[in-house]
Amino acid sequence: MAPRWAPPAPAGLVLVALLALLLPPAVRGDKPVRGGLSGVGAEPEASSAVFPLYGDVYPHGLYYVAMNIGNPPRPYFLDVDTGSDLTWLQCDAPCVSCNKVPHPLYRPTKNKLVPCADQLCEALHGGLTGRHRCDSPHDQCDYEIRYADQGFSIGVLVNDSFTLRLSNSSVVRPSLAFGCGYNQHVGSSSEVAATDGILGLGSGSVSLLSQLNQHRVTKNVVGHCLSLRGGGFLFFGDNLVPYSRATWAPMVRSAHRNYYSPGSASLYFGGRSLGVRPMEVVFDSGSSFTYFAAQPYEALVAALKGGLSRSLKEVSDPSLPLCWKGKKPFKSVLDVKKEFKSLVLSFANGRKALMEIPPENYLIVTKYGNACLGILNGSEVGLKDLNILGDITMQDQMVIYDNEKGQIGWIRAPCDRIPKSAMCQVAAKRGANSAMG
Ligand SMILES: *[C@@H]1O[C@H](CO)[C@@H](O)[C@H](O)[C@H]1NC(C)=O
Ligand SMILES: *[C@@H]1O[C@H](CO)[C@@H](O)[C@H](O)[C@H]1NC(C)=O
Ligand SMILES: *[C@@H]1O[C@H](CO)[C@@H](O)[C@H](O)[C@H]1NC(C)=O
Repeated sequence: MAPRWAPPAPAGLVLVALLALLLPPAVRGDKPVRGGLSGVGAEPEASSAVFPLYGDVYPHGLYYVAMNIGNPPRPYFLDVDTGSDLTWLQCDAPCVSCNKVPHPLYRPTKNKLVPCADQLCEALHGGLTGRHRCDSPHDQCDYEIRYADQGFSIGVLVNDSFTLRLSNSSVVRPSLAFGCGYNQHVGSSSEVAATDGILGLGSGSVSLLSQLNQHRVTKNVVGHCLSLRGGGFLFFGDNLVPYSRATWAPMVRSAHRNYYSPGSASLYFGGRSLGVRPMEVVFDSGSSFTYFAAQPYEALVAALKGGLSRSLKEVSDPSLPLCWKGKKPFKSVLDVKKEFKSLVLSFANGRKALMEIPPENYLIVTKYGNACLGILNGSEVGLKDLNILGDITMQDQMVIYDNEKGQIGWIRAPCDRIPKSAMCQVAAKRGANSAMG
């Protein structure tokens, strides 16, 4: 049994959002500095912003960006989460319970409070509990958000400027609403958190993406490219989107959650159907691993175990529930890849849009040199019938959430290079480096 798995959420709690379900007790001393950003050059097309990403699936368990917020702008690290809407920062309001975070706590001023009569407050409450409480229109907008991993944040909605450098080399400073979280429990409180907060990129109107679109800064399109070797990039807007080459499936709207889902898919392993019911699939960059519901999980584990060569022995490893060792410790997934077959998801809505999941998109090699299955039993963490594609499965693919056209796309890509055509987010990079140096 893996460590740090909380029991399923009791019924009646605030709706769970999806987020990093497993943050390993990782090395926080690493400096995820990435260099070599190139291709700075003005572009005629406006409306895109590109950010370098930091982090990895293992050992850090998350990918994050540096965003410049406030006036004067200060950098904050935010966990990129396409599985929830609200962006929030740990905040000195004053703080009742905060982790140690990489940067000084954000300090709100009274005039930054968003009143509860504001549409965004209503949308936020609607998305979290379905109920909007606002006794007097000038009251502050309180919120409480809970995640699938039992993490939570309690705070108040504020409004401050985000400094963004666009691909047309303009710098814009829209005022955007986000949470000032003064009481939270995320990850383990004894360690320094990797990030100052969360970047909510779901499809709801509170999402930073929707707000940028409302302010006519970028189109309502977001994409990420998570590198297998760590880092990668995130973009808002559609300038980088390879529309004709990517595989697309229409988004399915679920009634009350702003999850990104292309609907249900059939599961194949090594070219053969696993014979499970179609799976409802959600794309969630806030989850480090992938979760299958009990039935497909069991079918997959049985098929995997049935197909392995004798050179692999099941072994217990504190990192994840199901691991194998070889004759010698593995150094990377490439050492063990040939022992495993690819998975394929076939999405019914996308005229059989296929997503191939090769072994490097479902295995990790731990520091003990074992190969472990990065697809976990979602029923065990209370996800019921939902299947979540987490970071591990989206690595080295550009994944595009296109709310303009209502579709989700993916395409294999080398994610450790920001495309030449993109303007790099110089301000954020400088902020990140100085904050770590
Ligand atoms: C760049 O794009 C933004 C928003 O899309 C726009 O407000 C700004 O005027 C543009 N700048 C230039 C130099 O075209
Ligand atoms: C946020 O602040 C800006 C500028 O101060 C203001 O125009 C806007 O109405 C505010 N938005 C909300 C939701 O309070
Ligand atoms: C998956 O989780 C469910 C719920 O906890 C459990 O009943 C089932 O046995 C688990 N399956 C496997 C293969 O671990």
